[in-house]
Amino acid sequence: MKDISLHILDIAQNSVAAGATRIAIRISDNASDDSFVLEIEDNGRGIPRDLLEKVLDPFFTSRTTRNVGLGLSLLAQSARDTGGDISVESEEGAGTRVRACFRPSHIDMKPLGDVADTLLVLIAANPVIDFFFSYEKPSERYVLDTREIKAQLEEVPITSPDVLSLLKDELRRSLDAYLDET
Ligand SMILES: Nc1ncnc2c1ncn2[C@@H]1O[C@H](COP(=O)(O)OP(=O)(O)O)[C@@H](O)[C@H]1O
Ligand SMILES: [Mg+2]
Repeated sequence: MKDISLHILDIAQNSVAAGATRIAIRISDNASDDSFVLEIEDNGRGIPRDLLEKVLDPFFTSRTTRNVGLGLSLLAQSARDTGGDISVESEEGAGTRVRACFRPSHIDMKPLGDVADTLLVLIAANPVIDFFFSYEKPSERYVLDTREIKAQLEEVPITSPDVLSLLKDELRRSLDAYLDET
């Protein structure tokens, strides 16, 4: 995976496939602690206990179309390459939480990539799913919650081109502002 935003897209797709109606994507970025934490949490069907032990194994998948599961083990590798780690917690019928910790000063740290674009793709492709996104630094926090946006939009669908382009502008501006002042 080329950058963090592609990991986000991939891991969130697992949540979509698991029938989640709400997906939270949280980034907490703390340069002074050399810590970058990515958390993706959903209320999907969860991972059965016996499978949970195997999901970080690159040769495991519950899909039958390809017998190699990659997403979680690739994220684990990206995190571990920097001296970080990953944890996957899941409860059947309740949901799943994936938490990857990175050491951003490490030479193998992947670039963040286009997180605004990734979120837009997820929102546009899954209009009935609510997405919560937060980007947290020690001093401030940016939050986007599509549930609130949908409530404000009333009848207008979140997938309408005008709304998506406004959302994209807002995300770009906010994230750029965040990433600039490190
Ligand atoms: N959020 C999730 N909710 C429920 N099951 C999940 C979730 N994430 C992963 N899984 C299970 O773990 C397996 C491995 O996931 P992953 O490593 O992304 O590989 P793949 O998606 O290619 O199968 C999936 O096939 C699925 O059974
Ligand atoms: Mg996957």
